[in-house]
Amino acid sequence: MTATICGTGSYIPSYTMDNNDIARLVETSDEWIRERTGVARRHIAKDETTVSMAAEAAGRALADAGIPPEEVDLILVSTISSDVILPCAACEVQKEIGALHATCFDLSAACTGFVLAYNTALAYLSQGVYRTALVIGSESLSNLTNWKDRGTCILFGDGAGAAVLRAVDPEKRAYLPVTHSDGSKGAALSCKSRHDYNGLIGKIRPEAMLDESHYMQMDGQAVFKFAVKRVPEVIGEVLKLNRLDTDEIAYYILHQANKRIVEAVAKRLNEPMEKFPMNLQEYGNTSSASIPILLDEMNREGRLAAGQKLVLAGFGAGLTWGAAVIEWR
Ligand code: UT7
Repeated sequence: MTATICGTGSYIPSYTMDNNDIARLVETSDEWIRERTGVARRHIAKDETTVSMAAEAAGRALADAGIPPEEVDLILVSTISSDVILPCAACEVQKEIGALHATCFDLSAACTGFVLAYNTALAYLSQGVYRTALVIGSESLSNLTNWKDRGTCILFGDGAGAAVLRAVDPEKRAYLPVTHSDGSKGAALSCKSRHDYNGLIGKIRPEAMLDESHYMQMDGQAVFKFAVKRVPEVIGEVLKLNRLDTDEIAYYILHQANKRIVEAVAKRLNEPMEKFPMNLQEYGNTSSASIPILLDEMNREGRLAAGQKLVLAGFGAGLTWGAAVIEWR
């Protein structure tokens, strides 16, 4: 048994900040940001929350799949920007959409999160544990962004994307994913919990809240070098494992972090840029939401055809990276 994506959805906040808005906060320019990252604007959750965006994206994915919420057995939310610690975002989404019978939990693996959540759901569905799963990536990164740090605030944005997976008959070909982690390099991209007041849990020290380590901190060059090396590698591994050739792949749906990273991956794989769709110019880096948002856009634009093989590839904090092959419904 394997599973197939039978519906997608996304939610993007309407409030936008373009590069000139960012240049009013830190010393930077529209030209620098576009040239070094490809980002032109990002959408910011003002009235939305991580849960409200996730629930909206989930509802749209279910509508696309034509599946009622009562039929969902599993809800998996990938996020690093939960609104609250408890209850988990997935349980809140369950409540919002009325998926009464679902088992719900969150997964935290930053920008590789959607690929890992997809793999997790696939494993459950392939084993016959569940039949229908909702896999969601939702992020309010603006809450974790240090708006005084030009090394990071230029990059990130908010949004949510979702996919409905359904178990399908054994005749359909199953693809195995490849994933990796390297915890020894975790310092390259970090963010302390707002609830660890310098280790003095229970003794609230409000002045510690503004410590820079409570926002995302990144060694941009280290992450860049890691991405351009590891992403083509893991794509090569997943193709080899599944005995696929690059000319059998219609699109590579990469985590949307930086245009230069996407271009470098295409170059290393010796594949044309047309196979690497991008929307980071509009949304910036939305961490675990970026892959499902892009997938949903392509689905709704009619760019995906039945039988096409796609590679999903994520990379980010942890460090973590991984790739999965999907065959479009
Ligand atoms: O989701 C996964 C996690 N994140 C990523 O994938 C991000 C990976 N990294 C990157 O995308 C890039 O490293 C950045 C976009 C963050 C930075 O680009 P870069 O080309 O690596 O710049 P840099 O840090 O090497 O800095 C080059 C220069 C420096 O000036 P000097 O020393 O050459 O005079 C920086 O001070 O650009 C300067 N700089 C800026 N200038 C204007 C750094 N940030 C900015 C800025 N505006 N925002």
